[in-house]
Amino acid sequence: MCGIVGYVGERQALPIVLSGLKRLEYRGYDSAGVAAFDQSNGTVHLKIKRAEGRLDNLLKVLKEDPIKGTSSIGHTRWATHGRPSEKNAHPHRYKDVVIVHNGIIENYISLREELVKHGHTFLSETDTEIVAHLLQRAIDQEKDFEKACQKVVNKLKGAFALAVLWAKAPNKLFVAKQHCPMVLGLGKDEQFIASDIPALLDYTKDFIFLEDGEMAFVEPTKVVVKKFDGEIVRRKSHRVDWSLAAAEKEGFDHFMLKEIYEQPRVLRDTFRGRIQSKFDGVQFETFKMSDAEAKKLKSLFLLGCGTAWHASLVGKYWIESFAKLHVDVDLASEFRYRDPVVFKNSLAVAISQSGETADTLAAISEAMKLKLKPLAITNAVESSIARKTKSVIYTHAGPEISVASTKCFMAQLGVLALFSVYLASKRGTQNKKWVSKILTDLAEVPEKISEVLKLNDHIRNIAKKYKDYRQYFYLGRGLSFPMALEGALKLKEIAYINTQAYPAGEMKHGPIALISEDWPIVCVAPQDKIYGKAISNFEEVKARGGKLISIGTEGDTELRNRSDEWIGLPKIREEFSPFLTAVALQLFSYHMSVLNGCDVDKPKNLAKSVTVE
Ligand code: M6R
Repeated sequence: MCGIVGYVGERQALPIVLSGLKRLEYRGYDSAGVAAFDQSNGTVHLKIKRAEGRLDNLLKVLKEDPIKGTSSIGHTRWATHGRPSEKNAHPHRYKDVVIVHNGIIENYISLREELVKHGHTFLSETDTEIVAHLLQRAIDQEKDFEKACQKVVNKLKGAFALAVLWAKAPNKLFVAKQHCPMVLGLGKDEQFIASDIPALLDYTKDFIFLEDGEMAFVEPTKVVVKKFDGEIVRRKSHRVDWSLAAAEKEGFDHFMLKEIYEQPRVLRDTFRGRIQSKFDGVQFETFKMSDAEAKKLKSLFLLGCGTAWHASLVGKYWIESFAKLHVDVDLASEFRYRDPVVFKNSLAVAISQSGETADTLAAISEAMKLKLKPLAITNAVESSIARKTKSVIYTHAGPEISVASTKCFMAQLGVLALFSVYLASKRGTQNKKWVSKILTDLAEVPEKISEVLKLNDHIRNIAKKYKDYRQYFYLGRGLSFPMALEGALKLKEIAYINTQAYPAGEMKHGPIALISEDWPIVCVAPQDKIYGKAISNFEEVKARGGKLISIGTEGDTELRNRSDEWIGLPKIREEFSPFLTAVALQLFSYHMSVLNGCDVDKPKNLAKSVTVE
């Protein structure tokens, strides 16, 4: 995710802002920039410097042409709109207004069109630049900076944290928060602002946390917090005694746990602007297909590795069921070595959080050679796979630091669910009522995930009882089979425990020979159309001495009574159960890893991005 740091006071601002940005480097970014007002010779002179890539590149630019000033804002960008480049890096400026922004302005297209009608032209591809234009226009109309800021934040839809400097009041910072973090750091005759606490811990321990729908006007000796409707908010400051390492993890013990807890937000970001406001359809900013093209589609290949392959298996189920389109799911590492039969008018979709996985890149290249139309679903703007396909739907998970993928998997499921509804409505395989109902149900998923997260302590207690077992079976049927695969992979990866995942109905065809008291069985069995069959399969293994740890639907006494351990998840539309079972499985693996003394975030032998074949 992008990082914001700002300062107003008496000291030179640049070293403070740059050291704050450095503290946020661990989160990942693709470009950086700073702006400051130099008031040293009695005039106000605004300077902006930006650079693509690492902060070191920005430092080189600043070395050649230094900036002075006692008020400054800075930014590290993780591209969402527009590729990573100097031109798209923040800060963005329009006349007297300079701005940095985190998040996604959902209605930026309509706001941009409105500005174009008034003769505005833009220098970047970002949604941020339009906010600078809107603000300057509002200042010209209102003749009052604070009123103009209030007017503009009320026009913006989506998720944003903004920090703004204005040349006519260079010692005043404006910040606003809506669904993206923003904190104010308090000092004596100086103030700091940042998207994240670690950026400021070298300078202050006293923070005011803005809430959604709040903005603040920050001057060296004064901080005024207001709601977006202008009402003044009296907010107490908090003393934060976290170490830097704890602050980077926002108080969580590991990045993996932090990322598991981020999933409701990640899904909301992934749905934002894509589920149309009246739940009447799906749109993607970067991918379009006409109804005629969608109807002509003959088949689709989903290509990915590891966790992305598991997401693809869920995607196949959704696309075939909703859009009535044949889907092949291929392990990317195998695809190019087989001779697939391809049909005219078919799509190949590469799924990869990093966008750099060598096998997936090779698979999509092979698909393109076979004249399949390419599409990428990835979390990394301008990654190799995105550049190769030129046609992309981005997941909006933000940078994932833990090697084991959790929130990126969730975002992949989110995009695949949207994509399957998109195809269904374009192909006319489902009616409007169905589309509206399924999108309403999808929009409720983040809230249900928050409910699953409340089971964390319960899941940890189960893990405590089972931490010493060295082998596990994971069983599921239908949509729960890919989830069994994903749960089993997570336990292997981070707890180094042997796991076998099977469709529950397969056990009797061989693997049941292994069942004994030494192999606990994780049963993934939410109440769906194949649930009854799954229960019979679980009975078969229980009868042979297996211990059942079941992940099911709350209120299901039938499975609960047969199980040794029970994790009851909230009721959800049955097709969307993977969103919830994933979270329970992630938490179980996480606690097993911690309890076995493993390095959760950096498991041995694994890399975050696998760029070799
Ligand atoms: O970056 P990608 O999504 O292409 O990575 C694919 C796999 O390497 C990845 O999912 C791997 O299995 C993870 N370690 C899963 O936690």
